Amino acid sequence: MNIVHCLSEWQALRPSLGGSVGFVPTMGALHEGHLSLLRASAEDNDVTVLSIYVNATQFNDPADLAEYPSTLEADLAAAKAAGVDWVLLPDYSQIYADGYRYQLNEESFSQQLCGTDRPGHFTGVLTVVMKLLNLVSPDRAYFGLKDFQQFTLIKDMCRTFFMPVEIVGCEIVRERDGLAMSSRNQLLTDQGRQLAGRFNQLLANAVDDEHARQGLCAAGMQVAYVETVGARRCGAVVIGEGDEAVRLIDNVPVDVAEDSLPLQDIA
Ligand code: PAF
Repeated sequence: MNIVHCLSEWQALRPSLGGSVGFVPTMGALHEGHLSLLRASAEDNDVTVLSIYVNATQFNDPADLAEYPSTLEADLAAAKAAGVDWVLLPDYSQIYADGYRYQLNEESFSQQLCGTDRPGHFTGVLTVVMKLLNLVSPDRAYFGLKDFQQFTLIKDMCRTFFMPVEIVGCEIVRERDGLAMSSRNQLLTDQGRQLAGRFNQLLANAVDDEHARQGLCAAGMQVAYVETVGARRCGAVVIGEGDEAVRLIDNVPVDVAEDSLPLQDIA
């Protein structure tokens, strides 16, 4: 497995990579969810590229960025075992040599769900993903469906800008109690972790969004939103208070009438 820090070095060697290229962009703190993306890429492609880059521009809250977990050594060992060929480890000065003067804004779906309480989040995500896709130039790029809104926006962005890449959505990987794997799970207290195990069940078992919201509140979670879009009931909750607060997202498939899907233009 080769590790590259310098983007100009990467750009010089990229044309020499033969065969199909799969790409998994991450912010590190790799868990089974990320590893499932890496394994899918290694199976589908001749070469798999992983990027680990904690993208400051997608954090609207500096405290959230400061406490984002970093486990580089373990990440590299896990990546190697998952079949990664190349790891990109760029830094802010290389990714944002423009000082973030150029930004990719989406003005509709990005303002909903996570966009309502995380202003600027999806602009940061789309901008960095566009840059990374341009750098790696993959045949396929892999994203987890836990971040359903992110996946939908990235797929739509690539279609909108005629980008020659297939965006592959991979199923959510869950803990035994149903909690979706997330780098943020390791920030939960023991009590928070126990409560978090009920998030998925309460989202999945409710008869409608409002009942899901009520169930989550009654269990002791602060609910940012519960909303069904594109046949998925999506939710975001905060578990814990103050310094111990952790924001989690999840989504579950639900049956909805075809004509009630609000995502038909972009999904
Ligand atoms: O899903 C993530 O980890 C990030 O949003 C991504 C896609 C790597 C962009 O920073």
